[in-house]
Amino acid sequence: MARNRGGINGYYYRDTYAPIDPDYESRAVEREIIAEILWDAAQAPTTPLSGPFLFHVIEGTARIADYGERAKQYAREHRPGSVGYSWADKSDFKVFLDAPVVIVISGHADNSASVQDCNRAGQNLLLSTHARGLGGCWVGAPMLWLRSLETRKELGIAEAFEPFVAITLGYATSVPPSRSRERPEIVWA
Ligand SMILES: Cc1cc2nc3c(=O)[nH]c(=O)nc-3n(C[C@H](O)[C@H](O)[C@H](O)COP(=O)(O)O)c2cc1C
Repeated sequence: MARNRGGINGYYYRDTYAPIDPDYESRAVEREIIAEILWDAAQAPTTPLSGPFLFHVIEGTARIADYGERAKQYAREHRPGSVGYSWADKSDFKVFLDAPVVIVISGHADNSASVQDCNRAGQNLLLSTHARGLGGCWVGAPMLWLRSLETRKELGIAEAFEPFVAITLGYATSVPPSRSRERPEIVWA
């Protein structure tokens, strides 16, 4: 079973991602399965202000790879600095990891808690993906591009919404090894 990649590991501060994020089989993921995964994601608890989540499903390995190249180009042209963005200069860096499906989760732009709401939905999504035998990867690299007005228009993300999460999905060819974590600091206050 494919292991999901989604740990919180300060990706903003590193320029390379885990060398073994999932490689995907080229076969498509059935829409019924995607819909079930999104239904699981939508069970995430939200702030009372949030209406339903908005999910965009992008399908097709070639189309997605093309978007990945555009996201890279966009990052090169618009990145605020190179820290955290040097991947955009690497010719072999694949923003969407050759995935056959990408899910974008958006929340209401005028709700300041949307980012947390969408993150909870994203974590549910990864757990559901794993439980169903697929591999998912939380991808931060495309966010600059995804949040641009032009991209939002192209993908049909309504102005009242803002994309906060992008996750690749597919049948993974291998299960990446786990990375051990340091025990957290606990303050018994
Ligand atoms: C916020 C966030 C953004 C990430 N963005 C990317 C990304 O753009 N590309 C990528 O290949 N992996 C990305 N990852 C996945 C990490 O590379 C890594 O696979 C994941 O955090 C789990 O690995 P670990 O168990 O070694 O921490 C991201 C992870 C997080 C939490």
